[in-house]
Amino acid sequence: MMEGPVSIAVFASGSGSNFEALVERAGKDSIYEVGLLVCDQPEAAVIEKARRFGIDVFSFCSKDYPDKATFESVILQKLSEKSIEWCVLAGYMRLIGPTLLRAYEGKILNIHPSLLPAFPGKDAIGQALDAKVKVTGVTVHFVDEGMDTGPVIEQMPVRIEGDRTRLQHDIQRVEHELYPTVVKQCIKGEKAT
Ligand code: GRF
Repeated sequence: MMEGPVSIAVFASGSGSNFEALVERAGKDSIYEVGLLVCDQPEAAVIEKARRFGIDVFSFCSKDYPDKATFESVILQKLSEKSIEWCVLAGYMRLIGPTLLRAYEGKILNIHPSLLPAFPGKDAIGQALDAKVKVTGVTVHFVDEGMDTGPVIEQMPVRIEGDRTRLQHDIQRVEHELYPTVVKQCIKGEKAT
């Protein structure tokens, strides 16, 4: 039996709609709680969202540090202070380095707006539209050292039925349902690759 909620950190760099969904879906059955937001864009809208929810924020500028190993060591320290057990990436626009990967082996997740391995990297939605495919979707996967290359945990298809705005909306609706569900399943040990 698990004792109380498991603390997770959300890593985000942007608007934070997935962050919000993860926070809102956290409380319902006490599987996890969001203990920290890690953000590499001090002006990002997600920071204001975290403040509204009363969630601690660690924001940083990578250029203030000599290299990735150094700022990831600082992140690691913050994660440890908050007893964080899982790292959940939601629009964190940076590759995770060996420092964090080693410390959180098998416990770092990411969400990507395509059916990987199709359309990895930036602007997956634009890539799908340019390719004129009929179906794209959402993938949740474990994070490794590559760009959207880690083992797939779950995927949901999304039909392309309109312009970019419509597709973005349809994808986000799926993301906001899927991600909290998969995070809970992973914490409970119900999901493997
Ligand atoms: C999402 O589409 C996610 O799949 C991708 O980055 C986007 C973040 O959006 N990794 P938001 O900041 O959660 O709204």
